[in-house]
Amino acid sequence: MSAPTPNWWKTGTAYQVWPASYKDSNGDGIGDIQGLISTLPYLKKLGIDIVWLSPMYKSPQKDFGYDISDYQDVDPQFGTLADLDELIKKCHDMGMKLLLDLVINHTSDQHKWFLESKKDKTNEKADWYIWRDAKMVDGKRHPPNNWRSIFGGSAWEWVEERGQYYLHLFVPEQPDLNWELDEVRQAIYREAISFWLDRGVDGFRVDTCNLYSKNTSYPDAPIVLMGEEYQPAEAHFVNGPRMHEWLKEQREQVLDKYGDVAMVGELPGTDAAEVLKYVAAEVRELSCVFDFDVVSLGGRHGAGVKKHQVHKHDLPSFKQAIGKQQDLTRGTTAWSTAFLENHDQARSLNRFATADPKYREKAAKMLATLLGCLTGTLFIYQGQEIGMVNMPDSWGIEEIKDPDSLNAYHDVMHRHDGEPLWLEKAMAGIRRVARDNARTPVHWDSSKHGGFTTGEPWMRVHDLYPEINVADQEKNPSSPLNYWRKMIEIRQKYAELAVFGDFETWDFLEPDSFTFTKENKSNGYEKKKLLTFLSFSDEVQPLHFPPDCKGKEMELLISNVDEPGKHLTPWEARVYLVSL
Ligand code: GLC
Ligand code: CA
Repeated sequence: MSAPTPNWWKTGTAYQVWPASYKDSNGDGIGDIQGLISTLPYLKKLGIDIVWLSPMYKSPQKDFGYDISDYQDVDPQFGTLADLDELIKKCHDMGMKLLLDLVINHTSDQHKWFLESKKDKTNEKADWYIWRDAKMVDGKRHPPNNWRSIFGGSAWEWVEERGQYYLHLFVPEQPDLNWELDEVRQAIYREAISFWLDRGVDGFRVDTCNLYSKNTSYPDAPIVLMGEEYQPAEAHFVNGPRMHEWLKEQREQVLDKYGDVAMVGELPGTDAAEVLKYVAAEVRELSCVFDFDVVSLGGRHGAGVKKHQVHKHDLPSFKQAIGKQQDLTRGTTAWSTAFLENHDQARSLNRFATADPKYREKAAKMLATLLGCLTGTLFIYQGQEIGMVNMPDSWGIEEIKDPDSLNAYHDVMHRHDGEPLWLEKAMAGIRRVARDNARTPVHWDSSKHGGFTTGEPWMRVHDLYPEINVADQEKNPSSPLNYWRKMIEIRQKYAELAVFGDFETWDFLEPDSFTFTKENKSNGYEKKKLLTFLSFSDEVQPLHFPPDCKGKEMELLISNVDEPGKHLTPWEARVYLVSL
């Protein structure tokens, strides 16, 4: 009996497009679907098999498309339904799959469902969102409980018309849907899911997919942040009691009609045992998950941590977080993803390596080596392949577009009465971890605005586009872009080890280098191992040899230096195929 073919979403390399900043085709300064279509040959040449397109649905763009006002249409700023159909077809013609973003925890407050729901307490959609009465204290109106929204402030918004508050875990313009109602779930399945699968989409990246089920008694959260009105309440809305029931229902009632649909779920704030309940193959809920421990290092998520409070992590914590993601598949039926960037994170060079111009390109290749050797579906974010970096330090709050960053800044401003030193700290935090860092437009060449648009870009293009851009890197055989191409090829060639192998770290406590192996005791690879050496340092580092690799035959598969020597030069990376 031959081994079953692995699902397409396991072996494929994925690329995330955040449309507003990807490629503008018509000069209005906003990226669009035709822009994306024009770059499909570029993605194909990079080695991409799966395109994940962030929300392009009709939306007032209060949270950049994650506030959807019509699931069944494309926002005019990105194009038309016909453009999207063309994208689906062209991806398929070129042998690539397309994932859309599935944002069904909430809608926009401009969605017709919400516009009706907010009118009064008796309309047909009155219970489609989460409405509660005010809490009256000393004759004054207060939100029903003290929950803090994920983007700061109260999680409840008052609607005069209806005389009640509604719940919004994100910005007020993103009311949470009431998943407890059968007809709400059916409407979501029909309009947000089947509609697109019928048009040929291959699956979804599922937004915040462990938040649908809340603690329906809506109790106050315990006070952990003294002196604050609103408290982190994750315990009452993350991984709630009915999550698994609903994800199973969705698979059985909807997805199963369409074959092997990929559901790549975001599971923030979830430990490994809990993740398995969603993603073990036999539970048939999610295909694979994004685990956030790596990108949350230093305290980015949870318990109300603010941007300026995120501290620099050490390398062992990084290895531990990578190890958690890698071990998810060890001896289980689950599947995972490998990624260091997306539209919600700072750029990986700044966050995990170095953006120092002296080492920037070398470090970009080092991180490519790490990702290229990790188990799980590999996700690359736009611009990562050329080593784009965080916003320059010289940019001020006026360049910031993300409501999450702006709220964080204003929160510090009000809390500390505009004290300049506090504002500086807030801004430093934003430069370090704000989502804006990933949202500056992609640099396609060294012409004005980095070739992103012929018009005025909606968001300022990074000052470094003349030094970091696709066109120049195409021409340079040792550029990060060309290194990525080679790395993806090697990953595919040795997929049994790189994509499917078991991961082991050999120098866990070393603060400057990362040595790991990948092995797979099947499919003819019993006597082979991938051995990866990475430097995370500006200084020369000694090699740390795993005992069983010492003295064995080693073939160098890839490196970011021409001739790897006895030691690791700063930010060096190399991968060997070891014959045991
Ligand atoms: C997810 C998205 C993020 C969005 C949020 C609310 O975390 O990735 O961009 O703001 O959900 O939809
Ligand atoms: Ca455009």
